[in-house]
Amino acid sequence: MTTAAILTAAGSGSRLGYDEPKALVGLGGRPLVAHAARRLVASGVVDVLVVTAPRARADDVTRALAAEDLPIPVRVVEGGASRQASVAAGLAALPQEVDVVLVHDAARALVPPSLVARVAQAVRSGHRAVIPGVPVSDTIKQVGEVSVEGAPVLATVSRDRLRAVQTPQGFSRELVDRAHVAGLVRAASEATAATDDAALVEAIGIGVWLVDGAEDAFKITTPRDLAAAELALAGHLAVDELEQVEAALVALRAERRSPVPEGRDRSPAPEGRDRSPVPEGREPTESDAVPDDEAAS
Ligand code: C5P
Repeated sequence: MTTAAILTAAGSGSRLGYDEPKALVGLGGRPLVAHAARRLVASGVVDVLVVTAPRARADDVTRALAAEDLPIPVRVVEGGASRQASVAAGLAALPQEVDVVLVHDAARALVPPSLVARVAQAVRSGHRAVIPGVPVSDTIKQVGEVSVEGAPVLATVSRDRLRAVQTPQGFSRELVDRAHVAGLVRAASEATAATDDAALVEAIGIGVWLVDGAEDAFKITTPRDLAAAELALAGHLAVDELEQVEAALVALRAERRSPVPEGRDRSPAPEGRDRSPVPEGREPTESDAVPDDEAAS
């Protein structure tokens, strides 16, 4: 099976309070999009990466990813008016041979590689739509009409069966393509768009499977979230996981660059042609292209 990851990084991230798009905001000396890309790739389950970038900043995203020397083909495409539209643009850019798709938000920059592998494994084992989720710790109330003074409480929702949903979400390619086509009319604006891809699958009546998420896959939305991410990087993540991510990337780079043992089915893009992201709107050149027929080998 050939697995692609679509990394959504085309949002403005205005709630973070930076002029920069959120994906380019730095965390421990690296932009968020670079953290997320490294962790997707370090999982060892991703064969090709497609990244959605803000229209005016595709070159910056391309540069940030090129600096990581990722050992798989990377392609940068322009995002759309909503997250849903950006994912659709990513799907349209996938090589033909891809049959499993992981969709991940750059805003979940510290996703553990083990979570990426768990989601991919669940899809490969036969679940066609898989999402990670974590139990909800707050008591949840349903409220009536909200005004500046507050809102009436209508009900207390039992939290036993509630999960806060994360990314990456994994799908069989055929299903996620079909779900996005069916939900296309919603993509024009964030007001109508689905906030995750599983919702589009649910909307066409197909079941979605939930696996355990991970605390470190939290979404960076506010300055407080960014501070929490800095703390995680300086604290518990620094001890083991950062080293593991780097070690996994070093091993994958070495594997990609070594000769293919006889009888093994691996045909990577030729050396020097498989790691340079190409922004949409610019034709790939001989030196940086990721040809469709090679990209997901
Ligand atoms: O804004 P929010 O944090 O909910 O966005 C979730 C993810 O979707 C982010 O990684 C963001 O960059 C991405 N996104 C996108 N295209 C958009 C809006 C958001 O790729 N039009």
